Parts: sequence; C-alpha cells; structure tokens
Amino acid sequence: FTAELDASDIEKGTYPHYMLKEIDEQPAVMRNIITAYQGDSGKIELDQDIREAVKNADRLYIIACGTSFHAGLVGKQLLEGIAKVPTEVHIASEFSYNMPLLSEKPLFIFISQSGETADSRSVLVQVKKLGYPTITLTNVQGSTLSREADHTLLLHAGPEIAVASTKAYTAQIAVLTLLAVDVATTKDLHHDFDVIHELSLVAQAMEVLVDQKELMEHLAHNYFETVRNAFYIGRGIDYYVCMEAALKLKEISYIQAEGFAGGELKHGTIALIEEGTPVIAIATQSHVNGSIRSNLKEVAARGANTCIISMESTAEDDDQIILPEVHEYLTPLVAAVPVQLLAYYAALQRDCDVDKPRNLAKSVTVE
Ligand code: G6P
Repeated sequence: FTAELDASDIEKGTYPHYMLKEIDEQPAVMRNIITAYQGDSGKIELDQDIREAVKNADRLYIIACGTSFHAGLVGKQLLEGIAKVPTEVHIASEFSYNMPLLSEKPLFIFISQSGETADSRSVLVQVKKLGYPTITLTNVQGSTLSREADHTLLLHAGPEIAVASTKAYTAQIAVLTLLAVDVATTKDLHHDFDVIHELSLVAQAMEVLVDQKELMEHLAHNYFETVRNAFYIGRGIDYYVCMEAALKLKEISYIQAEGFAGGELKHGTIALIEEGTPVIAIATQSHVNGSIRSNLKEVAARGANTCIISMESTAEDDDQIILPEVHEYLTPLVAAVPVQLLAYYAALQRDCDVDKPRNLAKSVTVE
C-alpha cells in the first residue's frame, strides 16, 4: 500500500504518525513533480526566466539550513555533473561570517521547505541589497522566501507536517535534478539523461522500499534499540546522504549520530568505535563501493555492528538493505527511504515523540 498524494489532506488517516505517512507519499511526490513540470511537448519545461537566470550565472550559491542544506549538497553534484555549472553550498547561518569571494555573476538559490526560515531569509535580504538575482526552492507558495526572491521553484510535495523532513528532502533533490537537466538542455550540453523516465524509475524503486517496513523495523531493533551513538559512512554523493541519515536519527530518536566520509573515519574518529557501535554504510556508486566495504571491515574488526545499504548484494556477513537500481545521480532519492524508516522505527522503539521531537520546531523563524 502506498499513500496517494492529496494536497488538501492534512489528516493522518490510518497512519499512526505523519512522518510514516509522509515517507509513504514519496513515490506519489515524484510523480507529482514530473506532472507539475511537464510541458505540452511532454518534456520538462521550467519557467523561461529561471532558465535564463541560471544560464546567465557563472556560479550558483545554494543557501539553506538543516535537511534542506543536505539536499543542496546533493544538488551541487547534479548541477555540476549534469549542467556543468560551478556550485557552492552554504549553511545560511554561517554565510555572513564566512562569505566566500563571490564570482562576477552569482545566482543565489535558497532551499527551504517552509520558506520561512529566518537564517535563510537573512542571507536573502543581504544579497538582494547587493543586487544579485535569487531563486527560492520551496514547498510553500506565497511564503516569505518565495515572495521576496526573484523567482520560485515549487516542490509540489504537499503539506509536510512531521517536524523531521522526509518527502520535502526527496522533492528538493528531484526538483534540483529537473533544474540541472533543463539547464544542460538549454546550454546544448550533450547528455543522455531522460529525466522523466529516470524519476519514474525512482518512484517505482521507492514503492518497493516503503513496502519493506518489517525489515527496517527489525534492523532498527538490531542496531539502535539501546545504543548511545551511531555512524553512517559513505563516499561521494553517498556521504551527503549519510549526513541526512544521521540528522534524521538524531532529530527523532536522540541517538548521537554522525554522517562520515568513509575515508576520513580512520583519521581520528575511528577511536569512537567500540563493541556494538552501529556503523551503516551507504554504497551506491560502483567506483567507491570497494573502498567503502573495506572501511566497513576495518570497523567490524574493532567490534562495530555493521550494515550496508547498496544496489549489490554481498556474500559477507553484514546485514544488507538492497536498493533497486536507479540512475547513479539519483541514488540519494532511493537511499533516503530506508534511512528515514530506520530513524522512524528507532524513535518508536525508544518511545520518542516521532512527529514532535523535543526542542525542535517545524520552521525556525528566529536567527
Ligand atoms: C528546522 C527543521 C528542520 C529543517 C530546517 C530548515 O530546523 O526542524 O527539519 O530542515 O528547519 O527548514 P526549511 O523550512 O528552511 O527547509
């Protein structure tokens, strides 16, 4: 069973929590995004002004907080890899202090589910004063960031109620993919990326994964029921998904978790690994999978409780979550689903308030 997306529906229905409902809605969100951006030609057609703005820029500056920042990191890989536009990603609250030397023709892209985050808005106000063009990628039409930026790209994810962001994260990555492909096409860059087809495959893959709740519940029990800390490790684009996986776990289950670059673990942090420490690897990229498997062996030899999330099955002893094959740029969209479910079940098993975790708010309107 997969939830249908109905923007008017802000009820939980038969779901025990909004978060679980929103995780389940992700295949429908992918399809909704395709429909929303598909032009009469059957191809993806973004607003002409947005297209021009990106085409005229010599560098993109993505500004965001929390989960949206993590989506931005994946977006950088897509925009540089597919559209060949140099892209930087900055945490909004740090941007003013660590403002980089800007290029001649910067374009600022604000990613914000709510469109109300004060830290992001403060950067928007600052760069508008400097006269730079701006785009907001948001789920909420008419939100502050949407009104104040030059252009808006909508996420079409439907209302997200649970504090921990799930479907907005994958929607942000999907819309950034459309942007990257559209820019590549307008720049006449050769690519063989049929984005509608690839995102449809993602939706199917997500359907397979949201149906594996029993497995995720079982793994959450094995890995997270009593531990104080945990690691997600990955390389390349997987590393960015690890950062989001760790944030999900921290937010709702209060386990101290870190998303770590697989190769960097040995330079200090491996000292934290002890008997039973959960280390979950995300390994979706064929050119790094061998190295990340070696990293898992290193930590397993020191007592870590290891698991691998990958497209390939392994003959080794580790627990595995097998992801359906999707385009290598889009693996974050499918890897996100099991890590969201692992966090959800970890929080449930630890009696945490899944939808309203302590100390957190859905949108933070103070700097
Ligand atoms: C809050 C939420 C996070 C969210 C962040 C950015 O801290 O608890 O889940 O990722 O704000 O929110 P935004 O609406 O700007 O994406």
